[in-house]
Amino acid sequence: MPNAYISGTGFYVPPRVVTNDDLANVYGIDTTHEWIVQRTGIEERRFSEAGVATSDLGLYASEEAIARAGIQKSDLDMIIFATLSPDMSFPGCGVFLQQKLGLCDLPDSKFVPALDIRNQCSGFLYGLGTAASMVQTGNAKHVLLVGAETHSAAIDLTTRGRAVSSLFGDGAGAVVVSATEENRGIRKWKLGADGRHANDLAQQVWDIKKRPFLPMSPEGVGQVYPEQMWPHMDGKQVFRHAVERMISVLMQTCVESGLTGADIDLFVFHQANLRINQYIQNHLGIPDEKMVSNIQRYGNTTAATIPILLAEAERSGKLKPGMKVAMVAFGAGFTWGCAIAEW
Ligand code: UT7
Repeated sequence: MPNAYISGTGFYVPPRVVTNDDLANVYGIDTTHEWIVQRTGIEERRFSEAGVATSDLGLYASEEAIARAGIQKSDLDMIIFATLSPDMSFPGCGVFLQQKLGLCDLPDSKFVPALDIRNQCSGFLYGLGTAASMVQTGNAKHVLLVGAETHSAAIDLTTRGRAVSSLFGDGAGAVVVSATEENRGIRKWKLGADGRHANDLAQQVWDIKKRPFLPMSPEGVGQVYPEQMWPHMDGKQVFRHAVERMISVLMQTCVESGLTGADIDLFVFHQANLRINQYIQNHLGIPDEKMVSNIQRYGNTTAATIPILLAEAERSGKLKPGMKVAMVAFGAGFTWGCAIAEW
């Protein structure tokens, strides 16, 4: 059975920087830089322009990951796309990315499968488990795995929505998961979910139990009321469960891998709130030099946080071959996961 390893990383964030002061001064939200930094650590985030789709962000990140993997697009055997902010309701972003990469237009196109993953902040790790399994079972040699979000289009940028909208930003990260006979790669992954909390962080938009699924005006125009349109969150509940689940899944994955925390060289945590990650770091006694974060600059980019961190850590030299890396995420669902890789 081949090992599955991350052969290339890439990321893209849109150029437009939106600071906390911009939320107050440009969008008119009743908030302050101090409130947001104190509660979350976030200083700024990126918003893409109208006309840019999530699959576009994913495309730029993918092109970099494919180049850094040293392969051709035609070598890809599968696309996995994790997002909670897809271009449209259906089909998923995977097929749009496939087309934008030009994979369908190749003379010898393989028309590779394209799979969308709907696991929010844990989407990248759910995708990594899937990609690793495809590679280890010999069903694929190279899987393109993308996490990308366009939150700026679908958050309530008014005072009403400030508890959610001050947290999120746009961005994309991508990796290529490849087969190798070398003794390295993704060693272990564990995933979990607790559907009792499905409504604690959610964006309803429509209700499929209704006929039709959206209220309709006499003229036949679908109407979405603000409480359905925008995401809502029980922030304290999410915070508490995030801390508990991230600690326990990390410890379980280490124990089942025969490792202790001290054996891990780099901890790559989902970026939901700097305070969540600092709490976990202090609880487990992880030294600063083994942590990476970018929430200060990008906010919470949901499925994109971990692949963006991996790409940045590789570029900065913080992530080097041979290192043991623990990736951990928690988010809406609730869903969570951990993966340990030997880089
Ligand atoms: O990937 C998973 C995604 N989400 C998370 O991980 C989020 C986890 N939770 C959190 O990070 C925190 O719960 C928040 C940072 C979201 C909120 O912090 P909190 O201490 O739980 O605040 P709260 O929701 O209890 O709100 C306290 C007050 C409220 O005002 P009142 O009702 O006491 O007058 C909020 O309206 O703070 C207000 N508030 C704000 N004030 C200024 C909420 N958001 C803001 C804001 N600026 N941006």
